[in-house]
Amino acid sequence: MKPWTPSSWRGFPAQQQPQYENPEALAHCLGQLRELPPLVVADEVDYLREQLAEAVAGRRFLLQGGDCAEAFNDCRGGVIADKLRVLLQMSVLITHGARTSVIHLGRIAGQYAKPRSNERETVDGVELPVYRGDLINSLEPTQSARTPDPKRMLRAYTCSALTLNYLRALVDGGFADLHHPERWELSWRGPDAGHYSETLQQVQASLDFVELLGGRRESLRTGDVFTSHEALHLAYEEALTRFVPERNAHYNLSAHFLWVGERTRQLGGAHLEYLSGIANPVGLKLGPTAAAEELKQALERLNPGRIPGKITVITRFGVGMTERVLPSLVEAARAEGQPVLWSCDPMHGNGQTLPSGFKTRDFADILQELKEVMAAHRTLGSHAGAVHFELTGEPVTECLGGSEGLSEEDLARAYRSGCDPRLNRSQSLEMAFLIAALLREEAALARAKKNDYR
Ligand code: PEP
Ligand code: CO
Repeated sequence: MKPWTPSSWRGFPAQQQPQYENPEALAHCLGQLRELPPLVVADEVDYLREQLAEAVAGRRFLLQGGDCAEAFNDCRGGVIADKLRVLLQMSVLITHGARTSVIHLGRIAGQYAKPRSNERETVDGVELPVYRGDLINSLEPTQSARTPDPKRMLRAYTCSALTLNYLRALVDGGFADLHHPERWELSWRGPDAGHYSETLQQVQASLDFVELLGGRRESLRTGDVFTSHEALHLAYEEALTRFVPERNAHYNLSAHFLWVGERTRQLGGAHLEYLSGIANPVGLKLGPTAAAEELKQALERLNPGRIPGKITVITRFGVGMTERVLPSLVEAARAEGQPVLWSCDPMHGNGQTLPSGFKTRDFADILQELKEVMAAHRTLGSHAGAVHFELTGEPVTECLGGSEGLSEEDLARAYRSGCDPRLNRSQSLEMAFLIAALLREEAALARAKKNDYR
């Protein structure tokens, strides 16, 4: 096999790549991207990998979440701050409820390309190329808007940089500081709103107590925020890959963490080739048809050195599938001596399209898959140390259920996703409460089991 380079993927079959009409324009844009400064630095990427290694060992919990597809139009202060706020609020609920420290990983500042099941779709009787994310084309249903435009890659880079710049400023400026819970309040009217305020008060009381004992207040933050996106559009990812001499390694410096999707994880494919050569931690999505042998080979390809924190396997089976699918995968990773962080994405296996045409997911199915995955890992002696959600800080109506009891009729009110349906902020907070409860239960069962052996 030829040695890896940032462009060696070009010698492998690549699924889901846009076909640009003008090769010169494409080359020009990629050339510009190659010259632009990185968005993140290798130190941060390595630091995330170390934290993920701790999650593998059960000492931390990974919360990954954000839009299915970010939109250029949503590159606005309020939208970005709301997304960060909901992620951090979920983190406080999980940290406090489950007594575990949380790693925050946004699907943010670069989540602009989407894999699609069909090449074309029909909108109002007109057949068009499908929307592939703002990085590639526009959601607007016209032939010209749906034609891939390489200049969009520069816009995606710019929006990623603007988003990340604001995230960094918010975090550095104390937005995530637990001493200012008033900044965390949100106009949440869900039935659990009281419970949420109560939790925040308890957190505040614990901090005051730490201070009384002589602890330092300044350093108490909810932790760093990292960015991630699907490494789908390989020419774009290649252009943002840099050699870091101090590490003697290549890093994708457009995000801290990249993942490969269910539709592009072919063993002999271009995506695994590209991801096998970068030093970033990598996510591998696995659907219900994933086979143990496939996982073994993918892990060997992506993590031959068996570095803990390098690979997060993100299962997305759909409700009712886990018991059948997960055991052989866990056994396979174990047999290979691969230190995997197991993450549950309870969103992507639970999609449904309603007669009204809306794509939705039911809160109850999402929760049920999460429960099934946690229980299955417990039986297998492994553990789910991570979750992966599509969510937003905005009060959208895209997923059914939750404590607001969103019904089919409610969806039309505020359905804004250009792609998959997201949990809104109250559904996200409710989910975080439930995750904390599940983790507490896990811990109690683990303690009981330990005592049994004594
Ligand atoms: C996604 O995460 O938005 C996605 C397309 O997921 P999957 O590859 O698991 O279908
Ligand atoms: Co999605």
